[in-house]
Amino acid sequence: MIRHTLLFRFADEVPAGTRQAILAELETFPERYPAMRHWSMGENLSSRDQTYTHGMSVEFPDEQELLAYLNSESHETFVREKWRPVIADQAIVAYEFAGPEGDAGREGRVTQRPRGPYGMEYARIEVPDMQATIDFLVYHVGLQLEQHNDEYAYLRADIEHHSIELISAPERTDGWTTAVGFSVESEEVLEQIKQRAIAAGREILPLQERQQALCDNGFALADPDGLLVELFTEFQEYAEPPSLEIRPLDLVHPFLATPRYEEMLDFYINVLGFIPSDHIVGSATFLRCEDRYHHSLAIQKNDEHYVAHLCFAMKSLDHVMRMRARALYKGAPIASDIVNHSASTSIAFYLHDTKFGPRFELCDSHRVFTPEEHETHRARKMPADPRNIDVWRPASDDWGRF
Ligand SMILES: [Fe+2]
Repeated sequence: MIRHTLLFRFADEVPAGTRQAILAELETFPERYPAMRHWSMGENLSSRDQTYTHGMSVEFPDEQELLAYLNSESHETFVREKWRPVIADQAIVAYEFAGPEGDAGREGRVTQRPRGPYGMEYARIEVPDMQATIDFLVYHVGLQLEQHNDEYAYLRADIEHHSIELISAPERTDGWTTAVGFSVESEEVLEQIKQRAIAAGREILPLQERQQALCDNGFALADPDGLLVELFTEFQEYAEPPSLEIRPLDLVHPFLATPRYEEMLDFYINVLGFIPSDHIVGSATFLRCEDRYHHSLAIQKNDEHYVAHLCFAMKSLDHVMRMRARALYKGAPIASDIVNHSASTSIAFYLHDTKFGPRFELCDSHRVFTPEEHETHRARKMPADPRNIDVWRPASDDWGRF
């Protein structure tokens, strides 16, 4: 690491407004030069030496990055035209040092840790009555039907090609989720995930044929419960979102119930690269991927395997409540009414008709980590208390309404 330190004093005749403008411009530097780390600046408080009125300190990963900044056209112009005319005196010291152990700055950690998928794109659900399921998803979830024949249907929430793929399965009594699709941000990360899967002895499968045509590259693999996870780059998207006003913005996560809890965690964390965000100890784990939603996946210890719900993010709480009103009006089954999730700070309700597959969670304000939090968040370990799942539960034994 290189620490670059600048000490300076404005010329006496420089008016306060000009000084402020220069200081304000210095404050924009970390945004303009992304290689900068730990930028800070302040007035000199020292009672021993007032040679300089201000100091600025910033770190760079290496000398090359420091020189790239110093020699950049924008920096040289700033120095020549704005800085030199108003600065009476300055001193610069740049020195190399070893950063704190294991901390090569945020970027360093980003490149060192294994990357996971970017975010959830779709679920594939086999349903006994395709038309009834389409009607339900259009009216109660706000999806738009894009393509439809006797075998399959695609419905989308926003610009991504689809967020639900329905497969006609008249032999079933209940809907059953067979696959979940996650996009991956680059070919490089896709290959890394594939290599981890091979090293873990997982069978690499081709993508479903129709999905192959909807992305650049990808593969599929079964999780320990047999749910197909499809991973791919460059999922196709529409130029415009659906024109519907009340619709989800995104499919955020699947919630998987499993009798193989530890094995599932190992698979999703160590093979696919998901990162635990929080644990309900002994009961559930929330995991995130690179799009930084608090959770793009949740895994719950259960007696059996099933996809328990799919969560859609609506545009606002108002839209969540309008969808709730539609459910009440039509008598659609609300499996769990308005809850305030503490871990992900989202407010949601759940619709469930087993014919149409899993529960559909419609939520607002699902927490998105900042890039810094994404790298540094420590997964909390919370007791299995209903108030840790819904902060609007009044007591530790109020499990009744889940
Ligand atoms: Fe959820």
